[in-house]
Amino acid sequence: MTTTEPKGRLFGKVAIITGGGGAIGGAQARLFATEGSAVCVADNRFEAAETVAAEITKAGGRAIAVELDVRNAAAWGDAVARTEAEIGPVSLLCNNAGANFRVGFEEQTEDQFRLIMEVGLNGAFIGIKAVVPSMRKAGSGVILNMGSLASIRLGGGSPAYAAQKMGMVGLTRSAAQSFAKDNIRCVIISPGHVDTPFIRGNNEHSPNSWETSIDNPENFERRLKATPLGRLQRPEDIANAFMFAATDDAAMITGSMITVDGGAGM
Ligand SMILES: NC(=O)c1ccc[n+]([C@@H]2O[C@H](COP(=O)([O-])OP(=O)(O)OC[C@H]3O[C@@H](n4cnc5c(N)ncnc54)[C@H](O)[C@@H]3O)[C@@H](O)[C@H]2O)c1
Repeated sequence: MTTTEPKGRLFGKVAIITGGGGAIGGAQARLFATEGSAVCVADNRFEAAETVAAEITKAGGRAIAVELDVRNAAAWGDAVARTEAEIGPVSLLCNNAGANFRVGFEEQTEDQFRLIMEVGLNGAFIGIKAVVPSMRKAGSGVILNMGSLASIRLGGGSPAYAAQKMGMVGLTRSAAQSFAKDNIRCVIISPGHVDTPFIRGNNEHSPNSWETSIDNPENFERRLKATPLGRLQRPEDIANAFMFAATDDAAMITGSMITVDGGAGM
């Protein structure tokens, strides 16, 4: 095989991956790059995005890092323009960026509610609008939205997270219907309990205390017991489903949900 011969299931594709500096987004970025896609790793934590992009480049893949707060439409415009200029028109978009504050209905503040919705739902909406013209240039596209068990049933430990992840189902269907004529698909992928800093760490976008973190064995066991297949998911489990949905193996899948939850949502 010569070095110019196409290789990889995503050869020739260009992906923007939000939350690309995070656990699941990072796993997607690495996998997509391994399968031949050029990747724009986008995150509001620029250093985290740079780390993932550098890792990909070092391994022989193509990646750029951009600082992107998904709530900011102008920043989306810049991210798409840079991606087009440096690696080409966008053919894949993964909307991973998310936030949560795990407090009950009466404790959740309006500011917390707004932030969770603005990052997870408005951010995906603005991102889709920013990327679709680029996908038209590319000739086709796939938009992959991050769901949750909270996209299937009540869950997530906060009213805004419940609303955001259910909202993502509607956004996915709306985008799927609106852009099918442009040869653009849109799919929502819903993980179960994934062992990442989102549910383990104490981050600005997803704070956890001993009460909520899976560092607390009680919380870990509760999530494990709720998972019939007997283990929490790894970021790579979720990235594999994003990969499938991004390829032509999923050519007739749009507007629908793929769950990757070890059976937790049954
Ligand atoms: N870990 C789980 O159990 C689980 C389960 C279901 C769904 N999810 C969803 O998966 C997604 C990724 O989470 P993860 O588990 O990889 O956690 P993570 O904390 O490692 O990743 C989240 C990423 O989103 C980024 N982000 C936050 N706010 C942003 C903003 N305004 N603009 C751009 N980027 C922003 C963070 O910097 C971080 O890199 C989230 O949408 C989360 O709701 C996670």
